[in-house]
Amino acid sequence: MPLDRGYEKTARFFDLFASTNDIEFYCGYAKGVREMLDIGAGTGRVAIPLAERGARVVCVEPSPAMLAVFRDKLSRNPDVAAKITLIDDFAASFDLGRKVPVAFMARGFDGFLDDEERRESVANIARHVEPGGVFVFDVWLGYEEWPLRLSDTVVRGDREYRMYDSCKIVDGKTMEFDAVCEVYEAGELVERVEQKGWGSCSTRAEVHGLLDETGFKIRREFGGFDGKPYEEGDDVMVIEAAKL
Ligand SMILES: C[S@@+](CC[C@H](N)C(=O)[O-])C[C@H]1O[C@@H](n2cnc3c(N)ncnc32)[C@H](O)[C@@H]1O
Repeated sequence: MPLDRGYEKTARFFDLFASTNDIEFYCGYAKGVREMLDIGAGTGRVAIPLAERGARVVCVEPSPAMLAVFRDKLSRNPDVAAKITLIDDFAASFDLGRKVPVAFMARGFDGFLDDEERRESVANIARHVEPGGVFVFDVWLGYEEWPLRLSDTVVRGDREYRMYDSCKIVDGKTMEFDAVCEVYEAGELVERVEQKGWGSCSTRAEVHGLLDETGFKIRREFGGFDGKPYEEGDDVMVIEAAKL
């Protein structure tokens, strides 16, 4: 499987531009649970707050660069590190050797390269969730193409970070992203990093079919992370699916 899915050059900027309001939502699934599985855990953006609140989290992540950022954060926080296990693998191939009550995938479902990888991954996740346990994940449904544009600007100290990105949809399914991160000091460009990324689109009906096929029953479906039920036309769909 290709290792660079779109993070190898820009992983160190990931947390700066990660503004998704999903941490409280995923933390809501930690109550009374002995262990959680975070698939596509990235830099630990969600796993670390979970562990800070006492949860044990097993994290599956294949990107060397994202893992390096995650490990660096853990090296500075031994209490949190003691609660987190990192598995360097893909969703389709990891093997934990046991089942968990809660598995989740934050902002990762659209990163599968095609339907085959998505099916193999969800089937493998299903194998790791105990009966009655849940798989919680979000899906981006509002896919569209856009030209290269400035998508975010963040200032930290005397540095300004600018993120530009574009998206092209090939064959109606595959998303090809171009990202450019620029770093400025006192208004001068000091670094410019270009990164290509890939993902694939899925429809609500396809996601429902896949869950059905892999032994999950949808329990709740939200239109975001504030608990609002999903409505036709929402760009984001967040699913809580129970393992049968
Ligand atoms: C948008 S990032 C989200 C990271 C983290 N979950 C968060 O919300 O901050 C997607 C992550 O999924 C990982 N990823 C991509 N393909 C994957 C796969 N097939 N299996 C597991 N993780 C994958 C990427 O390396 C990346 O770290």
